[in-house]
Formats: sequence, structure tokens, C-alpha cells
Amino acid sequence: MTPTIGVFDSGFGGLTVLRALIHRLPQAQYAFLGDTARLPYGSKSRRTIARYAAQSARFLVREQGAEFLVIACNTASALALDAIQDAVEVPVLGVVEPGAAAARAASRTGDVLVMATDATVQSHAYAAACSAQGLRALEKACPLLVPLVEEGWTAHPVTAEVIRIYLDEVQADAAAKGFDADTLVLGCTHYPLLRPLIEAEAPRGMNVIDSAEAAAEAAVRLFNGRAAPAASEPTAETWIRCFATDSVEKFERIGSRFLDRPVGKVDLIDLGG
Ligand code: DGL
Repeated sequence: MTPTIGVFDSGFGGLTVLRALIHRLPQAQYAFLGDTARLPYGSKSRRTIARYAAQSARFLVREQGAEFLVIACNTASALALDAIQDAVEVPVLGVVEPGAAAARAASRTGDVLVMATDATVQSHAYAAACSAQGLRALEKACPLLVPLVEEGWTAHPVTAEVIRIYLDEVQADAAAKGFDADTLVLGCTHYPLLRPLIEAEAPRGMNVIDSAEAAAEAAVRLFNGRAAPAASEPTAETWIRCFATDSVEKFERIGSRFLDRPVGKVDLIDLGG
């Protein structure tokens, strides 16, 4: 039996997590939901994010038969993991704790920087998860990066300049607070697409942690613990079904950049208000 894994994001950025999952668990079946009608989550309140995320989780479990949920969205993981766990009866994995654990494994100084959306930073979920790992974290809201990625400006000089400014600001703050950061966590679904620019602008030797990769690795550990994937051989054609609440054409067009392969047909669904 191949497990059906539900992957949820506020939009199509979470396809970076799906890409990392497929790489590690090609034999699984995937149902991906991007709540594109209500994107961005990163500027919304906890209450609203929790309501949207719980509705999306129920769709994946009840209507698509997902047996595990991976919350690819950093903002939903940071602000609504409890609400999602309450809404469904299957195991739920967010991206924040795996990202913090990967930072722990990489950091020698114990000080890390986290780039994320406004809502994620306001929640201080990364600071809490890092603190649980014995790390100090300084979080930086980078609200301009999601729209730049959605515009396709992933190698654009304007994006490089914006990243430089954000990194200068967070490093100045870090210096003022006596941080000796050697690790930078990409705490948003969209940032893995900016990794080459971020690595170019970050101080030399800084470890860059992709929370998408870290979450996929944690998912594999979770599934192997349940012995689900071991029962089947990897197949050449991984079964993926994508759903969106709006902008299906844009999802199909831009999604392949995040997934690194065509996303195929995307089904439009209505989750209500
Ligand atoms: N998926 C969100 C995240 O990872 C970014 C886009 C949004 O703001 O909804 O934080």
C-alpha cells in the first residue's frame, strides 16, 4: 500500500516541499492543495490563518484520503499547527521544527538567523523551536520576497538588492545584540528559489538551511517509523494531484518552477469563505 500524503500551502510555494518529498518518497501518492484564493497568509492574523488552514487540512484528509499531512507553509506551521492537528485525525508535520532541528545540526556557535514572512516572525515560532534546540534565533521579516518570487524575479538584480538590504539589517541587529550567527534558516516556502542569490549575499561560510528539505527529511523519518513506504518500490511516475482555490492557470504556469517538473492539470476547488 502506498501512503497518500497531503501537502498543504497557502499557494504554490509549498511545491518546494513537495519536490523534496518526491525526491525522498517517490513511491507515495500526493495530494497538494494551494489555497491561492486566500494567499498571502504571511500578512494575516493567527485566527484567520488557523481557520483557512483547518479547512484546507480537512479537504485533504476527508476528501482526498490523505493519511499524513505535511504543512509546507511556514506561516501556517508557525501559527496554526495546533488548529490543524485539532481539525484532522491523521499525523501532521509542520516545517518549523524540522527547520530548527536542521539549524541545530549545522550551527557551531548556537546563534542562527531566520528569514520569514511577517506573520511567522511575529509568532516567534522559529525562536521558540530554536530555543527548544538550545539555539538563539534572530528572526527577520522579509515581506518583499514572496511577491518578487511570484513575479519570477528569482535571479533579478532588484531581488538581489532587496536580499542584501534585509541581510544587512538583520546582521546589524545581530551585532548589536551580541549574536555570532553562523546559520541562516530560509523560513518561507518561496525562499528556496532564492537560495543562489541568498548564498551569494550572505557572509562567506554561513550555513543556509532550507526548511523544505528539512521537513521532507523529517517526513521520511515519520513514515519509516510507521513502515508505510517500505512496503512499495519507487515508481517512475509518482502520482500527484494538485488542487487550488483560485488562479489555476497561474498555478500550472508558475508551479513547475517550484516543483522542477510540470505540475499537470490543477483542479479548482471551493473551500468557502
Ligand atoms: N507559504 C508562505 C510561507 O511559507 C508564504 C506565502 C504566504 O505569505 O502565504 O510562509
